[in-house]
Amino acid sequence: TVPPDTAVPLLGFTAIATNRADAITVPQGYSAQAFLPWGTPLNGSYPEYLDDGSNSGSDQEQQVGSHHDGIHFFPIDARGAGENSQEGLLVFNHEYIDNNLIHTNGITTVPRLADEVRKEVAAHGVSVAHIQQQADGSWALVNNSPFNRRITGATPMELAGPVRGSEKVVTKYSPDGSRTRGTLNNCGNGFTPWGTYLTCEENWAGYFVNTDAQKPREHSRYGVASANGRYFWETAAPAADVYQRFNASSIGAEAKDDYRNEPNTFGWIVEIDPFNPDSVPQKRTALGRFGHEGVIFGKLEEGQPVVVYSGDDSTFEYIYKFVSTAPYHKNTAGGHLLNDGILYVARFNEDGSGEWLPLDINNADFIAKATAAGVTFADQADVLLNTRLAADIAGATKMDRPEWGAVHPDTGEVYFTLTNNTQRTAAQVDAANPRASNATGHIIRWNERETQAATAFDWDIFLLAGDVGTQTPGTELELTADNHLASPDGLWFDPNGVLWIQTDMSGSQQGTGPYGNNQMLAADPVTREVKRFLVGPIDCEVTGVIMTPDRKTMFVNIQHPGDRSAPGDFTSHWPDGGSSRPRSATVVITKDDGGVIGS
Ligand code: FEO
Ligand code: CA
Ligand code: CA
Ligand code: CA
Repeated sequence: TVPPDTAVPLLGFTAIATNRADAITVPQGYSAQAFLPWGTPLNGSYPEYLDDGSNSGSDQEQQVGSHHDGIHFFPIDARGAGENSQEGLLVFNHEYIDNNLIHTNGITTVPRLADEVRKEVAAHGVSVAHIQQQADGSWALVNNSPFNRRITGATPMELAGPVRGSEKVVTKYSPDGSRTRGTLNNCGNGFTPWGTYLTCEENWAGYFVNTDAQKPREHSRYGVASANGRYFWETAAPAADVYQRFNASSIGAEAKDDYRNEPNTFGWIVEIDPFNPDSVPQKRTALGRFGHEGVIFGKLEEGQPVVVYSGDDSTFEYIYKFVSTAPYHKNTAGGHLLNDGILYVARFNEDGSGEWLPLDINNADFIAKATAAGVTFADQADVLLNTRLAADIAGATKMDRPEWGAVHPDTGEVYFTLTNNTQRTAAQVDAANPRASNATGHIIRWNERETQAATAFDWDIFLLAGDVGTQTPGTELELTADNHLASPDGLWFDPNGVLWIQTDMSGSQQGTGPYGNNQMLAADPVTREVKRFLVGPIDCEVTGVIMTPDRKTMFVNIQHPGDRSAPGDFTSHWPDGGSSRPRSATVVITKDDGGVIGS
């Protein structure tokens, strides 16, 4: 990537006001264009998008999925490590579907029609889109490129790392516990230094149902549903194995002949090689099993372990760090580094120090704590399958819903959003989660002591989100009309050291209150100057951001515009306008003078 340019001001734009327009708003001197919305023909026979919701399951398998989220741009040269800012692979997540938008009249019948289920499964996952900048500066999909690919909730995948082959991932589909089908609820993302994409499985548990009175801990601690799956996929008729697997109840057969273990093959970070359209995605089980929001590498050093951070976005859950066993060497680095290492969980002490606590079957302290708690683990695979339980035992700090992380490109300082937690009581307040009934969230940051792989760190609160006048204690930061915000979620450092912050207000905050529509802000991590850069359309979430290497094109994802629509009664018509149904989409942002974004 281009080295930081000290001649370019970090935040040179004029902050924009909040609004509730059904449009993208960016500062004066910038332009924004919707790109690759849900349903865009992507490969195969390039089936046309139909605005009445009547595209089939087969169509959706060849079209861009719904609910865009994490995103990365891989320059076409040097397998994504090059400098090409005019052509590359845009890879982005599809988190979930909207019951009211995906079919002509929404989701109406149970049992579900198999082709509707096929469409819904196909709307999840990841899109790989080969894109090119045109002579007029706009961007277009390269039609018929062999790189254009859909990965869905049914794509064959491998389990890699310590859980591969465990008896707890043996299913009818994979009697040796090495394979599974699909990735679901792909929220935040990451990318590796070796040119591959990482997608995260967040709220996957509710897609499965287990009606047993007693669920195994691998199901119960994560919220596998008790009555029905989130979209009733398990009821698809005519019945097919690929949908029946969402029912993980005991059905009296040997484990290898049923789907009791199917949920255990979800909750992972998945590595995808976008430059090899035939590659089989790899679920990297050494990184732990939880509600992965996103994934971010620590600052890389030749000859040192790779360090990977990931948050578990659920109320009172944790922040994790993986440290590889093998050192990083640029010439040999690859996915094998993510198969073997130690997974740690964070404890934030009251005095501003912190510790990484190992979740390791070979660590005597950890095993002593487990024994004291009356918990046994058979092996490291069992620890990883039950990462949340292991973190409880280790004594980690329960956080206000950890979402994305970001690592400063020069200093290696780590930032994490804590989106909100209205369930925290006054008695549960701690220094790292300092507000009871935290409706607006905050951003925490830390520096590892000595090396990125260290087990001790020093932390502080970067920003308390809230209305105008909200102060971050111990700092000069007081929010104004230029930067008040709630529910920070997406987070990314650009190569110039600007911290981009995206918001995901939902529920009552989404339609009313002082914050307008969800937004994106830019922050200077040193001065704590914060300015609003973008406001999204009605009832959307702003999530996922990346730039080309020259920093002159920014890609931002807009998820679930018109989130509160009923079938045929849409609260947003973005991006197509008129009476169209709303569609999640990427937004391409450029500066009208051709300059660096943010400058
Ligand atoms: Fe999918 Fe935690 O946002
Ligand atoms: Ca999120
Ligand atoms: Ca969120
Ligand atoms: Ca979302």
